[in-house]
Amino acid sequence: MIRVAIANQKGGVGKTTTAINVATALAATDWRTLLIDLDPQGNASTGIGIPAADRHRSAYDLLIDQVPLSECTQRTRITNLDIVPATVDLSGAEVELVSVEHRTDRLRQAFDQPSPIDARYDVCIIDCPPSLGLLTLNALSAADTLLVPLQCEFFALEGLSQLLKTVEQVQQRFNPELGIIGVALTMYDRRNRLTDQVAEDVRSCLGELVFQTVIPRNVRLSEAPSHGLPALIYDHQCAGSRAYIALARELIGRLPQRRKAA
Ligand SMILES: Nc1ncnc2c1ncn2[C@@H]1O[C@H](COP(=O)(O)OP(=O)(O)OP(=O)(O)O)[C@@H](O)[C@H]1O
Ligand SMILES: [Mg+2]
Repeated sequence: MIRVAIANQKGGVGKTTTAINVATALAATDWRTLLIDLDPQGNASTGIGIPAADRHRSAYDLLIDQVPLSECTQRTRITNLDIVPATVDLSGAEVELVSVEHRTDRLRQAFDQPSPIDARYDVCIIDCPPSLGLLTLNALSAADTLLVPLQCEFFALEGLSQLLKTVEQVQQRFNPELGIIGVALTMYDRRNRLTDQVAEDVRSCLGELVFQTVIPRNVRLSEAPSHGLPALIYDHQCAGSRAYIALARELIGRLPQRRKAA
């Protein structure tokens, strides 16, 4: 199972929208996909159609009570896509983790436990909260690679350098294998000259690391979560959905060949 964390400490840059729609696109391409919602806001869980009352086990149980991963997953209404949902108590986890040993390793330990989980999924997408706190550190320590959604706005690159510094620290201290699979430009507005300029700057600074696909600002993407559906299912023809399908295709091209279950 390949583990992809979706992180950026900046809020509202499209992490969750990317997590939901890339996970859905992968599932539609026959990748058996697990989405882990590691954000106490629970936006990925809501957006995929799991109301709070239906979240049987959550990322909190996984990290704090060390309930086996295989017992924390639940089905979504999307074929090939399961989720470990988040509940509000996950906000307490950030505090509770401070006092436990190996506090940045909890998620990795959950993956490492002998369980059938590796054979059940080809890929795991981890949606992170907007901070570089312990939840995100757990995700980065457990992930094989990181996908960074970057909003085309003025301070985008500044935030990114802080994130890259954190990645370096995680590589040095916890997870030398952590890679960066790519940076996805989000909320691109063709009519706004500033977004154009930012996109150009980001590309000249990061080169190939930036995915060719750009996610446009698209109202359908923001409507979909209130229906508990990925945009890809809510309106698979809209510009946002088409962009996410293209992004997922690019991502697949960059991922190592998936390991099929024996
Ligand atoms: N390409 C887009 N076009 C229009 N609206 C978008 C787009 N991407 C995301 N949004 C909307 O912008 C808001 C923030 O997006 P999202 O929740 O994906 O960001 P986030 O980085 O996960 O936020 P947070 O940091 O709070 O977790 C949401 O209301 C979402 O529906
Ligand atoms: Mg989010």
